[in-house]
Amino acid sequence: MMFAPAHVREISFDEDYSRILNLWQGIETGMNVGRSDTPEEIKKKLQRDPDLFLVAEHDGEIIGSVIGAFDGRRGMIYHLAVHRDFRGQGVGAALLTEVEQRLQAKGCLKCLLHVFADNSEAIQFYRERGWREQKEDIVFSKEFFV
Ligand SMILES: CC(C)(COP(=O)(O)OP(=O)(O)OC[C@H]1O[C@@H](n2cnc3c(N)ncnc32)[C@H](O)[C@@H]1OP(=O)(O)O)[C@@H](O)C(=O)NCCC(=O)NCCS
Repeated sequence: MMFAPAHVREISFDEDYSRILNLWQGIETGMNVGRSDTPEEIKKKLQRDPDLFLVAEHDGEIIGSVIGAFDGRRGMIYHLAVHRDFRGQGVGAALLTEVEQRLQAKGCLKCLLHVFADNSEAIQFYRERGWREQKEDIVFSKEFFV
């Protein structure tokens, strides 16, 4: 696939949701599409920091995404994903750089993200971009059901 620069912009829910879902569902490894990705949950997320939910567009197609979040103390990054036909062309780096800059501009001092332990491509990608594995930590989580 020929290199073509992608345009990174904020999500527009009505226009983009189904196309982003389509992108995510086509990502073969490295991320799960789950109950936080329903239209209702994405709308809920967009009530907080819509300017941290970014997409990469090329020729009218959504080819990449990243979701950032800031709780006033830490940043989080979710769903960094690039369509496989457009990988290795700097799209992932462009999305990550943009969301990092936006988090910094909000006063974020430290940002976290989860990577599946067997996702060596993504691990390498983050290492090369200044991210450090916190091997001393383990991650706890708890699901809430209403
Ligand atoms: C991880 C992921 C987002 C990276 O996206 P990407 O668009 O391929 O990333 P980039 O193109 O910015 O960088 C990948 C490589 O291409 C290289 N590259 C960057 N610009 C380039 C260009 N113009 N031409 C050729 N190669 C280029 C980079 O040097 C980089 O190599 P490096 O990591 O050895 O430095 C992508 O592999 C992906 O979607 N994976 C599946 C989902 C996933 O695992 N997400 C992470 C969840 S934690």
